[in-house]
Amino acid sequence: MRAGSPDLFQTPPEALDPLYPLLPRDWRIWECACGEGNLVRALEGHGYSVIGTDASTDYAAESTDFLSADPPPGIDCILTNPPFSLKDDFLSRCYELGKPFALLLPLTGLEGLRRQELFRRHGVELVLMPRRLHFQTPNFTEGRKSSSWFATAWYCGFMGIGRSLTFWQPMPAQPALELVA
Ligand SMILES: C[S@@+](CC[C@H](N)C(=O)[O-])C[C@H]1O[C@@H](n2cnc3c(N)ncnc32)[C@H](O)[C@@H]1O
Repeated sequence: MRAGSPDLFQTPPEALDPLYPLLPRDWRIWECACGEGNLVRALEGHGYSVIGTDASTDYAAESTDFLSADPPPGIDCILTNPPFSLKDDFLSRCYELGKPFALLLPLTGLEGLRRQELFRRHGVELVLMPRRLHFQTPNFTEGRKSSSWFATAWYCGFMGIGRSLTFWQPMPAQPALELVA
């Protein structure tokens, strides 16, 4: 695969902030294309039970192809930033499995004959962030932000959000408490 391909971009953990209110804490989550494990670690840090798998043995002890593998037992939800070149296949497989899912995809993922057919048939709910994410590219070095040249959203299915579009925003910072003498 081309070095620097978006198929290998790693997701910054803050991408998950809009999802935490939508994911019950007792859910067991399948990060089915986990790459270097950014999302696995962030979810575990928030108390979730997470199973991380990947097709590449660069990232996992054994290769697990999400498009053909059975889901690990007991999972409640599928969550990942999939390889963008396999958007349609990942969406199709999620709808086929029928589990709640959240896939991080470019906003342009709303385009496309096959995807729109899937969205019409099964429905989709989008969670949007106010800013673009800074993905970690393969030549990422700690302390330097990568560029973010496309906007993304969480494409959710079977999550029961109840709105087609959620324009999430971070909670405003609380003012520091002033101690009165
Ligand atoms: C864009 S990276 C994202 C990694 C991680 N999910 C994140 O958000 O930081 C996509 C990952 O999908 C993996 N992948 C590609 N095809 C796959 C497949 N059919 N099944 C499972 N993983 C796959 C790649 O090896 C890569 O690690």
